[in-house]
Amino acid sequence: MNMEEATIIFSLHFKNEDHIIRTYQNEYYSLMTLISAILPVSGFGLCCGMGSCGTCLVEISNKERSYKKPVLACSIAINDQLANMVVLIPDSGY
Ligand code: FES
Repeated sequence: MNMEEATIIFSLHFKNEDHIIRTYQNEYYSLMTLISAILPVSGFGLCCGMGSCGTCLVEISNKERSYKKPVLACSIAINDQLANMVVLIPDSGY
């Protein structure tokens, strides 16, 4: 088995812009910490991943949008399950 870190590529969709993300497994603690590090989403992740504030709610879908799932980004690990997915970040205006 190849022990090299495989690149995980997916996109973040925020304010009508797509941001292509190249990362690897566990580079960030969670999808919430990745988003907070990359995009200035006001009020995002207010409870720092405790799962209680709901400000990190995103929608994960495949590129065809035939699959959609709302999730708390702080509960999502960075792994292969994100590969080729689209993460929609609502502009909540907190
Ligand atoms: S950061 Fe508060 S629920 Fe995810």
